[in-house]
This record gives sequence, C-alpha cells and structure tokens, in this order.
Amino acid sequence: MSTEGDGTAIPLAGGGIPPAAHGRARRPWRFAVLISGRGSNLQAVIEACAAGRINGRVECVISNRPEAPGLHFAHRAGIPQTVVDHREHADRAGFERALRHALAACNPDLIILAGFMRILTPDFVNQFSGRMVNIHPSLLPKLRGLDTHARALATGETRHGASVHFVTSELDGGPVILQSTVPMHEHDTPETLAARVQAAEHRLYPAALRLICSGRIQAAGDRVLYDGRPLNAPLQLESLSEVT
Ligand code: GRF
Repeated sequence: MSTEGDGTAIPLAGGGIPPAAHGRARRPWRFAVLISGRGSNLQAVIEACAAGRINGRVECVISNRPEAPGLHFAHRAGIPQTVVDHREHADRAGFERALRHALAACNPDLIILAGFMRILTPDFVNQFSGRMVNIHPSLLPKLRGLDTHARALATGETRHGASVHFVTSELDGGPVILQSTVPMHEHDTPETLAARVQAAEHRLYPAALRLICSGRIQAAGDRVLYDGRPLNAPLQLESLSEVT
C-alpha cells in the first residue's frame, strides 16, 4: 500500500509484495507501462511477454500524450490505455495525482517507463521505490539527460549503449541493472547511432524485466541485488547469454 500526497491510499498488487516473493506458484507480474511517444520499447515488452520470455503482463499503458503512436500497439494488443494529458493539469501536483489514480486502477507490481518524457517529483518516485524502472539511451552514469546520441558522438569515444535502471528521485541516477553496448562508427550520425541503440534496447528491456520477474534482480535502496548479492557494476547484456 502506498499513500498519495493527498492522503488517498493506493493499493499495489499483492499488497506490495512482488509476485516472485509469493512462493512457488508465481503469478505473472502486473506491468503498467508509461509512454510519451513511439512506443517501440513497449512493443518489445508486449512481444516478450506474449512469447513467454517474461513472467509478466502489460496490464495497462498510460500516455501523457493523446497522440502518442505507441498507444496503437496497446490497442492492437487489447491492452487498456489511459491518457493522462499533462497539458490538462495546472501544475505537476495535479498531473501526478491523476497519474496515481490511473496507476491505482491498474494495480501494477512494476511501473515501466518506456520513453516517458515527464520528470516525476521525488514524492511520486519515492512512493514506488524499487517498483519503477526506466530505460535510458546511454551507458549510465555517462550522458544523463537528453540528446545522448549527438553527445556520445561528440565525446570521440568508440562505445555507446543503453541502460535499464531503477528509478530514484535523481534524474537518470538510479541504480543500473543491465546495460547493452553498441559500437560507434566513424561516419555515424545521431540518427544512425540512435537506430543501433534502439535495436539494442529492444533486447535489453525484456532481458532486464525477465531478471526482475524471475526474482534474480531486486532493488535495495540505492543498490541492485543480483541473486541476493549487491551488484558492484551493472550487468552487461552481452555477457548474460542466459537472459538473451
Ligand atoms: C528510447 O530510446 C529510450 O531509451 C528513451 O526514449 C526512447 C523511447 O523510444 N527513454 P520508444 O518510444 O520506446 O520507441
């Protein structure tokens, strides 16, 4: 159970206990996916769930933009969609109140940010501590924030990539679970590099969710536990053959 800023209680599925902790008969994790745009990561997650690669189900898709193309994937997959348009709220508190209500109706075990382009307040994020993940197009902690592909090219380095991390109140600063690395080539543009990173993301997010839903990955404050032990560095998708 978590509590809204206005005191309203928001139940979490399973009374706040992730299904992996329920014992042998593990029901699928309930996912709420938050998007703002294209939704290709949402599509990758839906497909991985449908293929049985993740013990989870996307129960709802919430977009802050009514025109987000990703809503079509949800529609085609028969997944309930909700629009919580930030432009209809006078301030961030009002927007987040509406978002909490949409989430409460969905009753998720895990909130998956997939190209969700609104900054969430610490109050909001802290209510879902250890229950919210994000994918970011860089090898965190490098290149937090926007325009990561152009900025990666400007570094002159040869490697770039994407990261899945637990969300904390620090923007793009939560503990990193899993990363995927891609090469940068001499003639890359931000667009060619973005396409390579996004292809990697579509393997990375399902793999990270698979680790979470199998109980192998858990959040512990500012750390990630992998098989019960603190991770000293993010897992690398390319070294984890069993989850690819
Ligand atoms: C991805 O590149 C992700 O890393 C970033 O936003 C983009 C979303 O793409 N957070 P899509 O909407 O999933 O296609």
